[in-house]
Amino acid sequence: MCGIVGIVGKSPVAERLVDALKRLEYRGYDSAGVATVHDGVMDRRRAPGKLFNLEKKLDGEPLAGLTGIAHTRWATHGVPNETNAHPHFVDGVAVVHNGIIENFSELRDELTAAGAVFSTQTDTEVVAHLVAHYLKAGMSNREAVLATLGRVTGAFALAVMFRNDPGTIIGARSGPPLAIGYGRGEMFLGSDAIALSPFTSEITYLADGDCAVITAEDAEIIDFSGKPVSRARQISQATAYVVDKGNHKHFMEKEIYEQPEVISHALGHYVDFSTNRVSKVAEGIDFASATGLAISACGTAYLAGLIGKYWFERYARLPVEIDVASEFRYREMPLSPSQAALFISQSGETADTLASLRYCREQGLKIGAVVNVTESTIAREADAIFPTLAGPEIGVASTKAFTCQLGVLASLAIAAAKARGTIDAADEQAMVKHLAEMPRIMSRVLNLIQPQMESLARELSRCRDVLYLGRGTSYPLAMEGALKLKEISYIHAEGYAAGELKHGPIALIDENMPVIVIAPHDRFFEKTVSNMQEVAARGGRIIFITDEKGAAASNLPTMATIVLPNVNEIIAPMVFSLPIQLIAYHTAVFMGTDVDQPRNLAKSVTVE
Ligand code: G6P
Repeated sequence: MCGIVGIVGKSPVAERLVDALKRLEYRGYDSAGVATVHDGVMDRRRAPGKLFNLEKKLDGEPLAGLTGIAHTRWATHGVPNETNAHPHFVDGVAVVHNGIIENFSELRDELTAAGAVFSTQTDTEVVAHLVAHYLKAGMSNREAVLATLGRVTGAFALAVMFRNDPGTIIGARSGPPLAIGYGRGEMFLGSDAIALSPFTSEITYLADGDCAVITAEDAEIIDFSGKPVSRARQISQATAYVVDKGNHKHFMEKEIYEQPEVISHALGHYVDFSTNRVSKVAEGIDFASATGLAISACGTAYLAGLIGKYWFERYARLPVEIDVASEFRYREMPLSPSQAALFISQSGETADTLASLRYCREQGLKIGAVVNVTESTIAREADAIFPTLAGPEIGVASTKAFTCQLGVLASLAIAAAKARGTIDAADEQAMVKHLAEMPRIMSRVLNLIQPQMESLARELSRCRDVLYLGRGTSYPLAMEGALKLKEISYIHAEGYAAGELKHGPIALIDENMPVIVIAPHDRFFEKTVSNMQEVAARGGRIIFITDEKGAAASNLPTMATIVLPNVNEIIAPMVFSLPIQLIAYHTAVFMGTDVDQPRNLAKSVTVE
């Protein structure tokens, strides 16, 4: 993870670098730093914690200079203190790094034996030492960086700056993303186009194995052996969005309430509401002849994929193989080119998801990418891009990206079912009609349940553990509920298939353990209610999330019952996501945690 940025400018850069870091904070916020080079002096300011600590420092001790690099960190090697904060300096070389240098320990031993003195616990410092070492041996700046790139293994995006050449930054990519931005008489480098969006929309994405030598006038792109390579320039769609919470206290709250609107945009891309048919876009993969579908993703996106599996199998009779990407990529599962693959990712940069995509590419599968960032690496490497159109999601805990992923997957499942002849035109129209009703229903639900949330949050904030239960598509939703709660409130929570209750989690039930049961009145309802009985019989406190029919059909005592409108099963996961998200949000707010930037997490995970 981590975000990096660099500017070779014609006006002072420190403030602009911090501005770019603000757009990269989603990549990590353990510490931040800026370095500039100016009149033969290379200087830096670094601060642990959030970016405002660095801003405060810069206010007191500004940095001059027209060339600079900056970094926001998600700690991998070494605690997040000031010493370990980037940029790292060694003998006139400054380095910022996103990723992991896997052979850092051998390199560190080798360099220490040769007399180098390390001052941090980071893996990155070996890069600065290696470059400095090669410079001392008489190499040019460029040669020293290339020699260093030949020695390091792992995943990295790097920017290197030199005291002896204030007009140049050298960047390199092997894994995590890195983009060059073209300005007028100045040039930029950054982890993504959004970081560079206030400066320029003219972008070149570096490919793996690219090195870019950047000056105020131009960028020269070479491979790690120094051979020139040519990469296309493009106009980025990333807008210099205003980081604005509107009337909301947190981005997460804003993003929860934006869902009815963004999901209607997302759906509008895949279905034609005038005819209630799926549109051509949803047919970007040849579902008709596919013998199976492989799905992989991480975190919340994985849970969206799991709900998708229920839809593809049930409606399209298409067998789905799904796993979290960190397992998928190494399982060496037999796949065939007759299968299709879908990768789901908000950022489009998650390292494990990307590696799983590449595994499927090697196996000859057609690749679809369900992504929010359409210029991301995962999008660029896919055969078909299915944008989720949720708009920038700033809160680290995913909300609107999740429901938009679900909206897209539901549309794709209907398209697949249509292509495979497992539904007829009337079924298709009925299903699309339900999707079309969803934004209105979501809006209503958000208003309806709001008054219950605060008292529920107060109760939950006193608990150490919470169990979520569900069956069918409510099972992945139970896992998502637990994930949301633990991510932002730090309360331990687990999501279980309701039928598994008696195979373990029932041992935990007592009067202190709230059990959140997600049970729309669907074909599993009676069975889930039996599981609720088992909880009630052991004194467990039930929070029952159901619909009007479900509420009427059960008379079990509960700690709280949240009643949603009756909805068709294809839209239930999206509608039932809302109470799940609001419960987590209000509990975290009540507990006073950092809702938008929870401890230890990052929004984009570009390391394994
Ligand atoms: C991180 C984020 C999650 C996200 C997951 C996958 O863990 O905190 O919110 O679901 O990464 O990210 P992606 O960008 O691939 O959807």
